[in-house]
Amino acid sequence: MKLLRLIANLGYGSRKQVAAMFREGLITDLDGEVLYADDVIDASKVLVEDEPLDPPPGILLMLHKPVGYTCSHKDQGRLIYDLLPPRYHVRKPALSSVGRLDRDTSGLLLMTDDGALLHRIISPKSRLPKVYRATLAEDLRGDEAATFASGTLMLEAEATPLLPAELEVISPREARLTLHEGRYHQVRRMFAAVGNHVESLHRQRIGGMALEDLEAGQWRQLDERDTAQLFATP
Ligand code: URA
Repeated sequence: MKLLRLIANLGYGSRKQVAAMFREGLITDLDGEVLYADDVIDASKVLVEDEPLDPPPGILLMLHKPVGYTCSHKDQGRLIYDLLPPRYHVRKPALSSVGRLDRDTSGLLLMTDDGALLHRIISPKSRLPKVYRATLAEDLRGDEAATFASGTLMLEAEATPLLPAELEVISPREARLTLHEGRYHQVRRMFAAVGNHVESLHRQRIGGMALEDLEAGQWRQLDERDTAQLFATP
């Protein structure tokens, strides 16, 4: 792909704006030699104002989503995209979250511009478990783990029962829940179905990938090794 299109698609500006950047000599190779709009060169060898180019399409990143941010491209209030460089908001192909976390849920969120990878991650065939830590309004009764593991729990307005899920009690009002599917507001609705209420919810893990030491609002790009770890059985 010609550099003009590559760089415009990465969100550095409209084609017109990027063409002007070429004319100003802002786009160079690693030795500082000026590059031209119709050059075709590996993205890793391109600098924009002496900085490496953002990764070309095919990126996967993990974000520690804070409470109060919405997984949407356009919504009022804070968006997860506000936590990334502004260019990432307008990349083509677009970057989107792999599934969603509620505005009031924090924790591990994956984002990618690779549609095939997104489908592979969310596909039931991949069987990637998702692990949540929930703080509850009421003490656990003691029968929740059996109900969640039964494979017969029906949520309101759903046509099929939930797949078995594993509940680990941490304290009377705290539990870790491992899901093998992703339905709308699933964790909150599961606890509501057993007469409780989720006060706070945090996703700790997807497949073999944990949040590590990322602070709320921080993100990092994942490489091939990370992707292999994501798909590895935890
Ligand atoms: N289940 C929920 O209820 N909310 C989330 O954000 C994720 C899973």
